[in-house]
Amino acid sequence: MAQRAVLNADIRKGKIDRNIYGHFSEHLGRCIYEGIWVGEDSPIPNTKGIRNDVVEALKEIRIPVLRWPGGCFADEYHWKDGIGPREGRKRMINTHWGGVVENNHFGTHEFMELCAMLECEPYINGNVGSGTVQEMSEWVEYLTFDGVSPMAELRRENGREEAWAVKYFGVGNENWGCGGNMRPEYYADLYRRYQTYVRNYGDNKIHRIACGANVDDYNWTEVLMREAGRFMDALTLHYYTLPLPSWENKGAATGFAPAEWFSTLEKALRMDELITRHSTIMDKYDPEKRVGLIVDEWGTWYDVEPGTNPGFLYQQNSIRDALVAGLTFNIFHKHSDRVRMANIAQTVNVLQAVILTEGEKMLLTPTYHVFNMYKVHQDAELLELTVDCGNYSFDGREIPEISASASVTAEGVIHISLCNLNHIAAVSVPLELRGLAGKAGVTGTVLAGDAMDAHNTFSQPENVAPKAFTDFTLEGDILTAVLPPMSVLVLEITPQA
Ligand code: AHR
Repeated sequence: MAQRAVLNADIRKGKIDRNIYGHFSEHLGRCIYEGIWVGEDSPIPNTKGIRNDVVEALKEIRIPVLRWPGGCFADEYHWKDGIGPREGRKRMINTHWGGVVENNHFGTHEFMELCAMLECEPYINGNVGSGTVQEMSEWVEYLTFDGVSPMAELRRENGREEAWAVKYFGVGNENWGCGGNMRPEYYADLYRRYQTYVRNYGDNKIHRIACGANVDDYNWTEVLMREAGRFMDALTLHYYTLPLPSWENKGAATGFAPAEWFSTLEKALRMDELITRHSTIMDKYDPEKRVGLIVDEWGTWYDVEPGTNPGFLYQQNSIRDALVAGLTFNIFHKHSDRVRMANIAQTVNVLQAVILTEGEKMLLTPTYHVFNMYKVHQDAELLELTVDCGNYSFDGREIPEISASASVTAEGVIHISLCNLNHIAAVSVPLELRGLAGKAGVTGTVLAGDAMDAHNTFSQPENVAPKAFTDFTLEGDILTAVLPPMSVLVLEITPQA
């Protein structure tokens, strides 16, 4: 079916929060240890123990916010184990993830140092499942109190004079599951209690973030908003994309059949329905949309790479993941009135990682390139874009062939991101540029694969990489772009006098 799209360049629909491009890094597998932290004595080039190559790569995509220390690990983490001289820190087993030794060398000071290097906001997730109110309250005091107090003194003894600024603090993680197997009524009460002691010291104003629902557990959202909505600044949502319907057999990251290409994208598109339905419940209790929805875990989850520790969740990342990222961002943009932050799981070496490492080597995944291409949308204003496109069918099922969104920067530069989900056919999209006064200069960048599982390896790190896009024409106000199969395209339109 013919495609047709109209960009209404004069209809602005609100800001796309840069934090939608946030990340999540857990003490899981090789994310923190090896992926980020190598230690000061490592031969891998580092600054204060943190890998230089990874920091540089994350700065390039303008990482806005980083969530830590978990995940499930957060509700087993006792922050005092991770402060003070490193040689004296407790060694323990990471019981949740792979049963390996956790030496606590990466703790509060190291995380805050990492965020300073990245120039991003820290998002710290506190422990409700196995931690006390006092422990959480003292962590906030240690981090953010500048006056005379036991925790501020302890921080100074550990080498940090001034308090840090911490804007985002999560009160528990997945408390319906690994964070304590709680019922929503019980967690809502605990949330009210714990958040009371997550205090604002001095000028530091904390956004208190409550643990939200698993996928489509709308009752959880209903109960949390009803019982605790007024005590929170945000509520979370976790949704992972699994190609196959079973946790025992999720599907492989590479070498999959077309049916898994299709089912992966079909499932990723479900994010739209989930956000819509959770937001509708939130609207009932919070019509002014004061409380943000934070999708602080999202991405693909496949079977681990053969021969790797099943508890490490290490998977390859292909052009299919790039499509998942591109269409998911387009969904987040559409809901940017409610979705104020999202954090892909996870930054390095775990699940839908943007970076993979092997010893001193590092590669950028196709998902990384989408973050880089889409960074132009950070803090830009959403524009109205209607796309009337055909469907992409497989085995009697259908999904839209094109996913798209558009925004305009403060300088008036427009960006349109388009994903062609079809694994076989190129798609020609005639795009009417309505509401643009005068002529426009157009450039573009495209990311495409020559196979459904095209990916980068340490021997071929540039196999999937963005290229300049030239396959378009501009006649009058009709911009026609031809998207290759399996591709993500970002067009830049600069109004010209
Ligand atoms: O990201 C991996 C795990 O997925 C997180 O620890 C947990 O919150 C979720 O179940």
